[in-house]
Amino acid sequence: REAGCLSIIVLGASGDLAKKKTFPALFHLFLQGFLQEEDVHIFGYARTKLSDDDLRARIRGYLQKGVSAEQEDVLSRFLQLIKYVSGSYDSADGFQLLNKAISEHEISKNSHPGISRRLFYLALPPSVYPSVCRMIRLYCTNTSDLGGWTRIVVEKPFGKDLNSAEDLSAQLGELFTEEQLYRIDHYLGKELVQNLLVLRFANRLFLPLWNRDNIDNIQIVFREDFGTEGRGGYFDEYGIIRDIIQNHLLQVLCLVAMEKPVSLKPEHIRDEKVKVLQSVLPIKHEEVVLGQYEGYKDDQTVSDSSNTPTFATVVLRIHNERWEGVPFILKAGKALDNRKAEIRIQFKDVPGDIFKCKKQGRNEFVIRLQPLEAMYMKLTLKKPGLEMSTIQSELDLSYGLRYQDVKIPEAYERLILDTIRGDQQHFVRRDELKVAWQIFTPLLHSIDNGELKPIAYKPGSRGPEEADELLARAGYVQTHGY
Ligand code: BG6
Repeated sequence: REAGCLSIIVLGASGDLAKKKTFPALFHLFLQGFLQEEDVHIFGYARTKLSDDDLRARIRGYLQKGVSAEQEDVLSRFLQLIKYVSGSYDSADGFQLLNKAISEHEISKNSHPGISRRLFYLALPPSVYPSVCRMIRLYCTNTSDLGGWTRIVVEKPFGKDLNSAEDLSAQLGELFTEEQLYRIDHYLGKELVQNLLVLRFANRLFLPLWNRDNIDNIQIVFREDFGTEGRGGYFDEYGIIRDIIQNHLLQVLCLVAMEKPVSLKPEHIRDEKVKVLQSVLPIKHEEVVLGQYEGYKDDQTVSDSSNTPTFATVVLRIHNERWEGVPFILKAGKALDNRKAEIRIQFKDVPGDIFKCKKQGRNEFVIRLQPLEAMYMKLTLKKPGLEMSTIQSELDLSYGLRYQDVKIPEAYERLILDTIRGDQQHFVRRDELKVAWQIFTPLLHSIDNGELKPIAYKPGSRGPEEADELLARAGYVQTHGY
């Protein structure tokens, strides 16, 4: 147990993100004993006028579905830790009230302000980050430093392009240090994303293979089988590149492509991520396919003339010794045929193939991030039986089967715990964010000014056929079944 008590303050407590992600993650941490009743208090803050019990009832309503009879009591104890304060996001009154509530709690726990820990989770739209952070800085931070801390968790989108992101970073940077700011990209909290460094650098098998000599192309794919229902207004302003590719898929790319860090220290890992991002070449328009699903504009909150892509395939090229000539194909789409996120590493053809099995496809190593976490390797084998012919088969590691007794934690659970522990490894550093925007900003501006337009595709399809053609041009060879 650390010295001071812990206050977790969820700003935007009555909103969707808090209900669906933040409070459930906190509950699961509580359930597993990572948050102790004697230490922790949780404060919800939002504009809506609610009583403590109103907020608790909302959270209970959402959480109850997944709770077993034995966990009922834990849920009630968890809900009792939550208090609600209402106020606006830019006025002193509300934040002074909030500070009073937190301080009272700290005093009741005999926790000196200098050793108390305050975690502010902004489950809010980024437009209010600067004012909320200013209010927290002015009215709610710890004053003395005896090991206590104030940390701020923010959610993407961090800006809309390079300039706006830099602007936001500068504003937050004036109020809090980089060590206090935790920029969440929840893909970094996923089990198989966290596994990437171990997989790459703790397995001798992969070390000599992981480069341009052996790998032909890499795909990082995100597919969803539902559209932007209920979020059309937000989505129309951002589009699939800002929503998924510039952050989630690019973070995965960093972990797949970066060099081995000096150590596991967060700064060493993030230094390597920045380097690989700096080596990405400007995106060529002919290596981009955009799509928009039919019916997207039927949403009342979406403009009739919207040019916003709900699908994109973008080829990134990394100019360094390891990856020169290997396309990294980032693909993301809404309203497609299924929901899946995976990394596909396709190896080159075998030179001097004596089996004439080239047509069956190539070796491929697939890491499925979700659903049903798995890794499998496509291999060419002798077809069992008397004939000497070849087939494609798979070495398969399915987490559901191999780790039956392990509950794989939700990304948010892990990331909130990291924040409490002060581990920034899985959070996006300011310079990393800047390069990520540098890569995509010219393309985004070309889309915003109508120079590039999305191709219509049917909801429930694989997206525009042009994307498959781009994939083939980039060198991907479809590997057939086994
Ligand atoms: C969010 C995006 O960051 O990630 C959503 O804003 C998307 O549009 C979601 O649906 C996907 O997250 P997950 O964890 O379900 O793959």
